[in-house]
Amino acid sequence: MNFTISPQQLENVDVMGRAKALAQTLAIATNGWSYAIRPATPHDATAIAKLSFREFGGGPNILKNVEEAIRIGEIEAYTVVVASDQNQTLAGFAFGIPKVASFGRFDGQVAEIQQVVVAKRHRGIGVGPLILAKAIDENRALGFSRLVLQFRPGLANWYAGMGWTVLPINQVSAWLEPPLPSRETVAPLAWMDYSPNYPQMAYLDIGCHRPIVHVHIDAVMGHKQTIASAVFALTDVLADSVDLLKSVPLDTLVNLYHDAHASPRFKQWLESLNAEDNLSPREAAASLLNA
Ligand SMILES: CC(C)(COP(=O)(O)OP(=O)(O)OC[C@H]1O[C@@H](n2cnc3c(N)ncnc32)[C@H](O)[C@@H]1OP(=O)(O)O)[C@@H](O)C(=O)NCCC(=O)NCCS
Repeated sequence: MNFTISPQQLENVDVMGRAKALAQTLAIATNGWSYAIRPATPHDATAIAKLSFREFGGGPNILKNVEEAIRIGEIEAYTVVVASDQNQTLAGFAFGIPKVASFGRFDGQVAEIQQVVVAKRHRGIGVGPLILAKAIDENRALGFSRLVLQFRPGLANWYAGMGWTVLPINQVSAWLEPPLPSRETVAPLAWMDYSPNYPQMAYLDIGCHRPIVHVHIDAVMGHKQTIASAVFALTDVLADSVDLLKSVPLDTLVNLYHDAHASPRFKQWLESLNAEDNLSPREAAASLLNA
């Protein structure tokens, strides 16, 4: 797919409008810059690794990791999208990786976009939005319903302008995904980990599924601490709404009940249901769901 961008025509166009303006510039630009926006091939790996290293640094395995991501992309739902100019030089790239939920599955609802990068000489003319637009298409085609990403301060307006919901700095998301047909009794818990270098988070809904419950939590350092906060916040929200609770599969309710970090209000609520009938938490949850 080849796009042509005229920098002059895109001046003063808001960021969100740039991808749309693209379709028009395709037909009328004459001296514009021409970019191909496409999935990466193994030939792109070295240039991607170099650009990634220049922008973010990285360890000795960076090239190997990029090659691996491109190679296994279709198997494990990775997406690597690149922009290359008319000389076939890499102008930018973005990675998308499945946001692995609590059961380590690759077929979840949410993917994370990582490392959206445009090489310096190609910045400011809408290449980044095009790469993101292509990454969205690729992830939608793979069946993802939501994209998340974390970024450096300063880009909030850029993402918000393209329709992303931007969280306040130092807040991260956690959610219960709708169960998939393959695991229909369990709703997996997923969360974002906090990274001080990329302290702001945004998400974009791109498909028809929505999380059953979605909360924003104050960022804490450490994986375990984040999960503990997530479980507390999600269960505390569930304790406020019978309707919401009824949409959570039984096994998930029982798992949450037994989690050490579940909100006491949530636990008490389920326990109050079995007080008279002497039900186990599982039976109490089942009776609630059937009520
Ligand atoms: C962010 C990035 C991908 C944008 O790509 P792009 O092709 O230049 O995107 P656009 O053409 O829409 O231009 C981006 C706009 O955001 C601004 N911008 C870029 N980085 C910024 C930052 N850190 N803080 C504030 N503004 C920023 C640009 O000045 C430009 O403003 P303009 O619309 O007024 O010209 C690119 O700047 C980049 O690669 N940055 C370094 C890597 C990075 O930070 N990636 C983000 C994930 S952490």
